[in-house]
Amino acid sequence: MALDPDRIPQHVAIIMDGNGRWAKSRGLMRIKGHEEGANSVRAIVRACRDNGVKFLTLYAFSVENWVRPKAEIRGLMVLLRKYLTENEYELHENEVRFRAIGRLHDLPKNIQNEIQRVEKATLNYQKGTLTLALSYGGRAELTDAVRAIAQEVKSGSLDPAVIDEAVIARHLYAPDIPDPDLMIRTSGEMRISNFLLWQLSYTELYITEKFWPEFREAAFVEALEVYQQRQRRFGDIP
Ligand code: FPP
Repeated sequence: MALDPDRIPQHVAIIMDGNGRWAKSRGLMRIKGHEEGANSVRAIVRACRDNGVKFLTLYAFSVENWVRPKAEIRGLMVLLRKYLTENEYELHENEVRFRAIGRLHDLPKNIQNEIQRVEKATLNYQKGTLTLALSYGGRAELTDAVRAIAQEVKSGSLDPAVIDEAVIARHLYAPDIPDPDLMIRTSGEMRISNFLLWQLSYTELYITEKFWPEFREAAFVEALEVYQQRQRRFGDIP
């Protein structure tokens, strides 16, 4: 089935789940699953470019993931750094802006610096946007927004009477990025897992049994095909 170029989702968000299970099913260490998962990241960034998806947001590390064994966290941080240094040229080549959302100050300093550097170097690109959610939690994001709003009220620059949905949305981590049209979760779990709680309100959900390391372009296109068969109503009647 061919994709309808007029109905490509503008923004796809992905919960990249199943790296550990993929590794285990092959008798490998968990970190090997994350390594192969990084190859899927590369493949899906390219698939977005090739299929006209402008915004891609990937859940790379949640606020809850900090309880994992130290060695696994260290391994993930090394992979993240490697991903940024090795793939920066491709962001430039394709004019893709890189962004990160989450409690970034929780990350090791060298990762924070690398993120800031790549964000700055790609700031003006407009062909696509790759956003990594790092030390991210939907409730944490809303909590941070409420705190920022409360500060403005306290300082007198914001009247509580004018707080509406738009004001809240403006205080989220990346207020200029449109809400996701499609959210993909790999490896079968039927959960949102604290991902983009505010932004996913009207997003179409697609859950595949495939583990993230085996989720490549063909699987991504299949998700887009399913999305194109959905009827989005936003609360209206058909
Ligand atoms: C979920 O699998 C995946 C993660 C917690 C991390 C995602 C990280 C990567 C894809 C690799 C590095 C990232 C980038 C951006 C280069 P899991 O470990 O929860 O799998 P399981 O549920 O099978 O144990």
